Amino acid sequence: MRMSSPHALLEISDLKTYYSTDYGTVKAIDGIDLTINKHEVIGLVGESGCGKSTVGLSILRVLPRNGRIISGRIVLDGQNLLDLDDERMRTIRGSRISMIFQDPLTSLNPVFTVGDQIAEAVELHQKVGSKTEVDEKIVEILDGVGIPEANRRVSEYPHQFSGGMRQRVMIAMMLSCNPDLLIADEPTTSLDVTIQAQVLRLMKHLREKLGSSMLLITHDLGIIAEYSQKVAVMYAGRIVESSDVVTIFKNPRHPYTQALLRSVPRTDIKQEKLPSIPGFVPSLINPPKGCRFHPRCRHAKNICREKDALKTEINSGHIVFCWRAEEVGFVGE
Ligand SMILES: Nc1ncnc2c1ncn2[C@@H]1O[C@H](COP(=O)(O)OP(=O)(O)O)[C@@H](O)[C@H]1O
Ligand SMILES: [Mg+2]
Repeated sequence: MRMSSPHALLEISDLKTYYSTDYGTVKAIDGIDLTINKHEVIGLVGESGCGKSTVGLSILRVLPRNGRIISGRIVLDGQNLLDLDDERMRTIRGSRISMIFQDPLTSLNPVFTVGDQIAEAVELHQKVGSKTEVDEKIVEILDGVGIPEANRRVSEYPHQFSGGMRQRVMIAMMLSCNPDLLIADEPTTSLDVTIQAQVLRLMKHLREKLGSSMLLITHDLGIIAEYSQKVAVMYAGRIVESSDVVTIFKNPRHPYTQALLRSVPRTDIKQEKLPSIPGFVPSLINPPKGCRFHPRCRHAKNICREKDALKTEINSGHIVFCWRAEEVGFVGE
């Protein structure tokens, strides 16, 4: 049996999550291992459709109706979340793990005021006493995330807030329960660049204050570089490379990671058009045989088309699933 690390907060092993559809079974997550340590930010990166959001939804067990966790373990502090009944899972969601989504409008209820929704979170999770105490706490929370005129704005509705402010409110709510783990799924993708930076900085500041761990899901390597300590690169339902953040940028070994890095827009040279990786993420109903990246890989050889890629540990903590991981050096273009 595998010994768990004393620093581990959440350990995912051999997780498989599938969606059933009229066209067949979508193997959105097809056997991943991922460890999130205490106080650590781990970035989960990959193109759209690789299964990143499904990882977040699986951890919280809030998959859509047609989604199902087929196998694996998701262990939080020694307890397999997949063994818990619905009620205990609800308690975990309210107190130990919380999630921020891309579009806060979908998570905020349009018919309740922002204040009421924070009140719900605060009353539920912190058991503050009287109405006045709750009101004061709400204004304090909004103040704390930089909402101007918090006193007045508590009685406004979500649509009266800008996108950036709504996301600040979500961050405030999610952190008000002092979670051990925060899952942020593309938290700033729908915001414009300056607001994006403000929101990320706020999240970083609050997270550091609380010491929570974070799973930061994004397709943006720039955000990963700035906000996370570790990285897991996901492709077509699997994690293909993981390491600390410096190593991923300096010594990426998986051709997919290398391609992602090449597609990051550069600021030092003039580029005619944004580079992107040729080809598409495959359908996860019938993913390619062998290494799933082989149809798009410039280094693919026969074995890559036939057999699942071999797990290789390049250095301690740097893991790559690629038949050619030892040979393929990184040349940026
Ligand atoms: N409710 C669903 N029903 C069927 N397929 C889904 C559903 N949600 C996501 N998928 C599919 O699962 C795969 C992974 O999706 P997702 O986890 O959203 O990826 P990402 O967050 O990396 O974009 C994709 O092929 C997507 O089309
Ligand atoms: Mg997603």
